[in-house]
Amino acid sequence: MARMLLSREKVYDPILRSIHAWNGFAIFLLLISAQVADWIELTPEASALWRFHVWAGYALIIGLVARLTWGLNGPPHARLGAMCHGREWWQALRSRQWFTEPEGFGHHPLASAAYILFYLIVLVMALTGLALAAIEQGSGPLVTWLGHDVVMKDWFKTPHDVLEEFVLGFVILHIAALILHEVNHGVPLAQAMVSGYQYRKEKE
Ligand code: HEM
Ligand code: HEM
Repeated sequence: MARMLLSREKVYDPILRSIHAWNGFAIFLLLISAQVADWIELTPEASALWRFHVWAGYALIIGLVARLTWGLNGPPHARLGAMCHGREWWQALRSRQWFTEPEGFGHHPLASAAYILFYLIVLVMALTGLALAAIEQGSGPLVTWLGHDVVMKDWFKTPHDVLEEFVLGFVILHIAALILHEVNHGVPLAQAMVSGYQYRKEKE
């Protein structure tokens, strides 16, 4: 069997990893609670679950604020700038090669475009979610402006509902891409957000 040399570097700091786990878990709870509440519609348990959904929503908002703060003040690989790779995006557009082998340490340059888009979508989810909490449940910080304002409901419900599919799509693609990269390129990848270490093939 051919032997392959790997080099490794500590890339993701413990705070970034904790924020990733926190946000991932909050999103998992948000997706599950909305799905189950939809199934058991119009029961008292469903309204309790929607309340739980809003609490998971607050947890996500805290995680997003933490990510933004760390993105502005954290170490180099956690900075928001580390997700911007204009030159690589332009090259990928021209060559139409998206699923490239990770090179160099830090966020995969093309995956980073998906991360930025994902954060923007989640931001809209948070804002529309806060509006819905005020309208549907008469709770949360927007209650003075929107409390039980059913006329405005569709303005927030439609984008919240449509973008949920994108959140679910991202999670599935993200995990599938991590697995596919490991299979195709033979380098451990998914564990980087757990251990902090990234592995790359040594150049011959
Ligand atoms: C990634 C994040 C989120 C996902 C995937 C998500 C998903 C969903 C889904 C699928 C629905 C059902 C929509 C419908 O059937 O029309 C829903 C409703 C709702 N969401 Fe979210 N949500 C997220 C974030 C939030 C946040 C941050 C909040 C508030 C802090 C929130 C508050 C609500 C409220 C109040 C409702 C309406 C519940 C009701 O009908 O009583 N959501 N969400
Ligand atoms: C609901 C589930 C998940 C969500 C929403 C999510 C979201 C994200 C986001 C937004 C990033 C960009 C990181 C940043 O902010 O700097 C990221 C990166 C990453 N995630 Fe996840 N993640 C999830 C689950 C997982 C799981 C289960 C693993 C495997 C242990 C994982 C491994 C990674 C790795 C290794 C990176 C860095 C990839 C790279 O270097 O480009 N994620 N994830």
